[in-house]
Amino acid sequence: MDSPLTLIICGASGDLTARKLVPSLYRLACKNRLPAEGRIVGVARSAFSDAAFRDKMAAAVREHAAREWLPERWEAFARRLFYVAADATKPEGLANLSAWLKEKEGGAGGRRLFYLAVAPDLYGGIVSSLAAAGLLREEGGWRRLVIEKPFGRDLASARTLNESIRSQLREEQIYRIDHYLGKDTVQNILVLRFANILFEPLWNSQYIDHVQITVAEKVALEGRGAYYDQAGVLRDMFQNHLLQLLTLVAMEPPARFAADPLRNEKVKVLDAIEPLDDAEAGRQLVRGQYAGYRGEKGVPPTSKTPTYAALRLGINNWRWRGVPFYLRSGKALKGRLSEVVVQFHCPPHLMFPVGDGGTMQCNRLALCIQPDEGIHVSFQSKVPDQEGMVMRPSDLEFHYGHAYKNLPIPESYERLLLDAMHGDASLFMRSDEIERAWAIMDPFIRASESASATAPEEYAVGSDGPAGANAFLDRDGRAWLSLCHH
Ligand code: BG6
Repeated sequence: MDSPLTLIICGASGDLTARKLVPSLYRLACKNRLPAEGRIVGVARSAFSDAAFRDKMAAAVREHAAREWLPERWEAFARRLFYVAADATKPEGLANLSAWLKEKEGGAGGRRLFYLAVAPDLYGGIVSSLAAAGLLREEGGWRRLVIEKPFGRDLASARTLNESIRSQLREEQIYRIDHYLGKDTVQNILVLRFANILFEPLWNSQYIDHVQITVAEKVALEGRGAYYDQAGVLRDMFQNHLLQLLTLVAMEPPARFAADPLRNEKVKVLDAIEPLDDAEAGRQLVRGQYAGYRGEKGVPPTSKTPTYAALRLGINNWRWRGVPFYLRSGKALKGRLSEVVVQFHCPPHLMFPVGDGGTMQCNRLALCIQPDEGIHVSFQSKVPDQEGMVMRPSDLEFHYGHAYKNLPIPESYERLLLDAMHGDASLFMRSDEIERAWAIMDPFIRASESASATAPEEYAVGSDGPAGANAFLDRDGRAWLSLCHH
């Protein structure tokens, strides 16, 4: 029999625990996916009894997993839930936790997954105190660590953080979350590309004109003004989520779906993106800030932090040379929409007369990440019963909501928590991946933050973003596309 498994959540009084972690664990329990012998212990400084912590988490689950709430299921789940008051930033503050683990695990020890749901500047210190308190010694079972973004704020600080954590843990013990990788539709990029023969032969510069990756948000700061103003959209969304989407779209097929073969290929893509010099990065970047941002709580009235950005990257390898990848993301926009659009070239010769204006829409494929998850392919069709050959673009559509009616798309933390418990790091980021992503983003961030940088262009709340983003693509003779909003 396996030794007992304990998930230790440091930062149990915080938002992430209440909004995402415990509701996701509860849903996993409802699906009978949690290891039978598993326990969850919340750790924070404030004093709570197990019962009080359970009550607080029950309220969180009723709010955030309302659809799945069933009192008897909660009762069964809550029996696995505990609380220990401890100060994880100091080795001596961890005595309670050590004693608790010893008692619950029994003499033979157990397996421990530490989840740091705390402010990122505490990561290094907590890992050192866990080590100093002896809690990371692999006695009686493995030790693993899960941490959340941001991993540093540039290449130099990410390196320092990686070194500090790796002085206590081996790389394969560290699970760095990018919650986009936990989304089914993001994993489906791999399935579409590598479990089908139809698309892959066309997936290169010979057939693809360019790729667009959009992550648009309707929400604004949601009370995180102080954090956000220090980060801005380039750190908050591009260094992680948008570059992760790009690597999945652009990578070569790995030989196996396993952590290292997969991540090796992702790193190769990032390696093929040459970091620009700051001046060039400035030219390949558009920044915007929504009207009213500087009046938000936690934001200084003079802030030049971008809440929107669009930029162009090139991948210098055989497959992608000459194919621009346009990335854009922003807050307080018209709607919530994450989508990858692949624009194919037009046929080399067209025997049909093209209509007014003499242009034709060439094939497009869209991967709809959220909210209407699916895939759209746009192609030309003959309009029936017309004089001559009249063509019009038509859409082939696949919607998860139709195809898998009884299988709603789960919260991405469910998959990620379970993978970390099972020791599968495929959907987590390796240190070299993170560092390489910072190396790509740093010149854009410096261009955005330099003293001589202009203020970002203002855009209206509920709009498509700054006008400059349209002019940016116009310069290349292209326009932003969206197929997913039907
Ligand atoms: C987070 C960012 O990583 O991703 C947030 O910090 C953003 O600012 C969020 O809102 C978007 O995630 P999702 O899953 O809602 O697209």
